[in-house]
Amino acid sequence: MSNKTPVTAKRRLDYQPPAYQIHDIELSFNLDDEVTKVKSLLHVFKQGDHDQPLKLDGENLTLIEVKLNGKSLQQYELTDEALTLSNLPDECFIEIYTEIDPASNKTLEGLYKASGSYCTQCEAEGFRKITYFLDRPDVLSKYTVTIYADKKRYPYLLSNGNKIDSGDLEDGKHWVKWQDPFFKPCYLFALVAGDFDKLTQSFTTSSGRKVALELYVDKGMAHRGEHALASLKKAMKWDEVVFDLEYDLDIYMVVAVDFFNMGAMENKGLNVFNSKYVLADSQTATDEDYFNIESVIAHEYFHNWTGNRVTCRDWFQLSLKEGLTVFRDQQFSADMGSPVVNRIKNVKVIREHQFAEDASAMAHPIRPDEVIEMNNFYTVTVYDKGAEVIRMLHTLLTPAGFKRGIDLYFKRHDGQAVTCDDFVNAMQDANSINLDQFKVWYEQSGTPELTVEQDFAADTGTLTLTIQQHTPVTLDQSQKKPLYIPVRVEYLANDGSSTTDIIHLTQSQQKLVRDGFDVEPTVALLGDFSAPVKVIRTLSAESLLTIALHSNDGFSRWDAAQTIYSQFIHSLTPNGSTLAITQETITALLDGLLESAMEDQALLAEMITLPSVETLVQQVPKYYVESLHSAREKLERIIISHAQPMFEKQYHGLAFTNYDYTPSQTATRKLRNQLLMYIASTEQGEELVTQQFMQSDNMTDTLGALKAAQHAKCKCFDKLMSQFEETWRADPIVLDKWFALHASRQSEDILSRLDLLMGHQQFNHENPNRVRSVIGSFAFFNSTGFHAKDGSGYRYIGQYLQKLDKINPQVASRIVTPLTQWQKLDEERIVKMKAELVRLLDNKDLSNDVYEKVSKSLG
Ligand code: PHE
Ligand code: ZN
Repeated sequence: MSNKTPVTAKRRLDYQPPAYQIHDIELSFNLDDEVTKVKSLLHVFKQGDHDQPLKLDGENLTLIEVKLNGKSLQQYELTDEALTLSNLPDECFIEIYTEIDPASNKTLEGLYKASGSYCTQCEAEGFRKITYFLDRPDVLSKYTVTIYADKKRYPYLLSNGNKIDSGDLEDGKHWVKWQDPFFKPCYLFALVAGDFDKLTQSFTTSSGRKVALELYVDKGMAHRGEHALASLKKAMKWDEVVFDLEYDLDIYMVVAVDFFNMGAMENKGLNVFNSKYVLADSQTATDEDYFNIESVIAHEYFHNWTGNRVTCRDWFQLSLKEGLTVFRDQQFSADMGSPVVNRIKNVKVIREHQFAEDASAMAHPIRPDEVIEMNNFYTVTVYDKGAEVIRMLHTLLTPAGFKRGIDLYFKRHDGQAVTCDDFVNAMQDANSINLDQFKVWYEQSGTPELTVEQDFAADTGTLTLTIQQHTPVTLDQSQKKPLYIPVRVEYLANDGSSTTDIIHLTQSQQKLVRDGFDVEPTVALLGDFSAPVKVIRTLSAESLLTIALHSNDGFSRWDAAQTIYSQFIHSLTPNGSTLAITQETITALLDGLLESAMEDQALLAEMITLPSVETLVQQVPKYYVESLHSAREKLERIIISHAQPMFEKQYHGLAFTNYDYTPSQTATRKLRNQLLMYIASTEQGEELVTQQFMQSDNMTDTLGALKAAQHAKCKCFDKLMSQFEETWRADPIVLDKWFALHASRQSEDILSRLDLLMGHQQFNHENPNRVRSVIGSFAFFNSTGFHAKDGSGYRYIGQYLQKLDKINPQVASRIVTPLTQWQKLDEERIVKMKAELVRLLDNKDLSNDVYEKVSKSLG
């Protein structure tokens, strides 16, 4: 079907240890706009007794010369992908001279030049675009790096580790030499050269070492870096307190760049960040931005131990570092703010995106078995389900047992490149528990379903729960095994008292018996979302209300409310619902919530928020686009007509205070803006929205007003939006919010609006943030526009991706995701979506990135 030259997948089980190790590498870069010259000196050691050649990865490089032990080498084999040297002695020095062209590198991988600075991105396999090397994470080397560049234009020349020397040259150039004392894989190498504003602070570690913290941002942006630096210090402290992990170098640098494919990168001692995860002030950043910055800064910092000191043996083990580091950053965020609201945030990601991935042709275990393009596996499954798997260990072993496991993991593996099994074995050995069955979580894809039946014998006071676990087959695996699943259970008695338990599920069917109840308790299952599974059970509206209003577990309260909303919505679509949720259930829930004077405003805000369309889709066998949307809208109208007076009263009772990013202010703004979402569509809506927009002194309330206006289709929307654009025209990170709001708006002429947006002077097809704001927002979040019945939304995305794939395949491959998730749609839409996928595949220059996802999706 495809015109592309065939590409082969790599398989996890084919792993072979490297035939050579490279203990030291000395790199020198001569940065120049025409050609950048790279010289690399490798100290190579053969591993064991063999006569295999040394095959160095390299891509898009111009080879100038190779020397072996100082002598020019003429015999070597060179292809588009590798430089192969044969008949090497057991130990030798290899010198390689290459040339590259960073200015024309739009993939933002390898060494690239953007907005006037040079920057690298090597994870996963970008180092091979810089020089010939063993580009695999189990080759660990000591790096010495010298950078030469024009001093005026590039006053800062940065790389990993410590600055050991520097000097000026006659031709206006200068140089700096860096040395990283820690062995590291090449994916953690980084280089940055440019002119920046620099913020410097310091952190004294628990053992008394003073670490210099340096933050590099675009000129004029220094005042927006304070929050990131403060967050970094909190993260450093937290890791000392919770995990006894201390930073290991004398300097920690963070550079914010405008052109970046992902969120940020944990290069040793020199993190590179997408500027949207660094820069913030109250005028330009929302509470959510502040939160994300704190969490991404922490995430990259935590990688210094989980990822850098102990790294991955091969890329199939990616979750070893990512699942664990996401879990760590989630725990950190929970400690910095509201644990419940954080947990809800994590769960939404799983239910909206990870369940969707499991239901698609891209389904894969957290430790994948087969990969064509590694960049396609930085997924919600590897990251977020990976974090859930770590969390289950934390639950099963208790925090103290988990800490013992972590200690043993570092004791055994510091300085090594290891596997997910090594991690679980450390957890197991430190706790004398058998985790063999638990390891199935690493090899099995799919979303397990727990079907629960509850039985009560009134005469004996015995409660019996019968739980069946079943993982439906996925497109990548036809056989599924039972998993080891911790299920948190709460028994709620009539008098409001409650007890909890953790059930260890291991069999496909298990009975749990518990006595001593006078009356049948209400049972809340999966408290704190103790496992990444779906629960199927028939609960009465009354029980759901009891849990939503009285559970001691905030997550369970929210979850019960979500079930009430979801099942009501599904009951209005052809999918139907087995639960008897009526309009009265809804109003009883709202009355209960609003009259209880709930103290936790953030939780209240979450509890009056309806499940997203994406979440709803994952609960049912079929996605009836029109019917699901109108059912969801109908529920919204019911809520408004019942609760409007209470919403308004609440809204006016919330004080506007001078902006500060604190948990209590954040909670208030969250509730205010959720209330405004509802109020916006009432008679008073236009006025309140406009008033909030005009009076707001911070981006959270400003954006809240705009979102409400967009959602409720207020007349004032266009006017407020153009006012916003006038104010923020020169500030692309802020303007991204405006782009996203326009692109996710429901409107008949959305496609011509998208064209207009891409004609905006700040739009740039080469900048991933801009592309995501416009095209990504449309494809992922404008479900009515994207799923337009005539297929025009699919067509639009398909055509755009053809173009984008030639500029930046990684970003194209992310945005193709919604186009590959056709499985639950109606026949007509499936045909149209597949037609776009076929068109993409028809392109013989299609990147491996997009090829892998599209071809899988077509089966
Ligand atoms: N390793 C980075 C992180 O999780 C993500 C990343 C992957 C960034 C690949 C760039 C390229 O923090
Ligand atoms: Zn990470």
